[in-house]
Amino acid sequence: MRQWNYLQFSLHPRHVEAASAIVAEMGTRGLHEQPLKSGGVLLKAYFDASSDIGRVHSDFESRCRDSAVPVAGCAAGIEEERDWLKEWRRNLNPFPVGARFWIDPGRQVSETSVQDRICMWLEPQMAFGTGTHESTQLCLEVLERLPLTGRTVLDIGTGSGILAIASAKLGAADVLACDIDPVAIQVARSNCCRNRVDQRIRLFTGEVEALAGSGFDVILANLEGSLIQQKLNAFVQHLHPQGSLVLSGLLERDATGIFRSGIVRDLPLTLSQDVAKGEWRCLVFGRNPLAQPEGH
Ligand SMILES: C[S@@+](CC[C@H](N)C(=O)[O-])C[C@H]1O[C@@H](n2cnc3c(N)ncnc32)[C@H](O)[C@@H]1O
Repeated sequence: MRQWNYLQFSLHPRHVEAASAIVAEMGTRGLHEQPLKSGGVLLKAYFDASSDIGRVHSDFESRCRDSAVPVAGCAAGIEEERDWLKEWRRNLNPFPVGARFWIDPGRQVSETSVQDRICMWLEPQMAFGTGTHESTQLCLEVLERLPLTGRTVLDIGTGSGILAIASAKLGAADVLACDIDPVAIQVARSNCCRNRVDQRIRLFTGEVEALAGSGFDVILANLEGSLIQQKLNAFVQHLHPQGSLVLSGLLERDATGIFRSGIVRDLPLTLSQDVAKGEWRCLVFGRNPLAQPEGH
């Protein structure tokens, strides 16, 4: 079993970026961040087993002092490599999301219905979309309130396929989902089969620009904030008049940026929902109906 040296310390969330930059400069091979009940953060930085961890420890403390980054309880140690995915599976029990979903990360598909909730069996593997992230939960909570029966949906950045699967289970007739990461598309494909919605979900590796013409009733984009701002215009091109555009993965600064930049003002969009969870925001826009030509 492979071993790693590590440094572990706690700090205020506002210093996480600076401390991460310091350990990155020092050649860390990986960081694990864990929120603490106190409101602080526990950071664990891993180094090769061949590193002199005593020296790494003192070097780190002196760099933090020089950069005025306050860290507490800094300690060094050795750890055996763990299978994070296996641990995640062992620790994560099925859980509810919103009013209608039940997410089961287990491998076994059981037919038992849970309090009349819609069950999704998801094995995220190497793709984002376990259902535990607030940005995903915001999308699911918006989706469960949209009229989806018989509608068409475009899921941009599908990850594990979670939002595409949820849409199909809520009655969407046709879902198209894309991701730039081919591994995510493989994972999404296997999740679609596991949930028996593969007949109604088409997947492709690529970006929204690869699409020709057709309009969708609902477009979902849980992506990085700056990417959303950059691609907003392209998203709107694929939205049916009166369709809904769900933008998630936005931090406060991204939402402010979207409104301040004036891009929304220049597009045929009206804000219909603005919801938040933790530090994440989700904005839902309706596409304005096509303007009637004068005299009609
Ligand atoms: C935050 S995850 C969202 C996953 C899932 N939709 C969810 O809500 O949990 C964003 C996903 O978008 C993909 N992605 C990033 N840039 C993209 C782009 N330009 N076009 C399509 N997918 C992209 C990433 O590979 C990643 O799987």
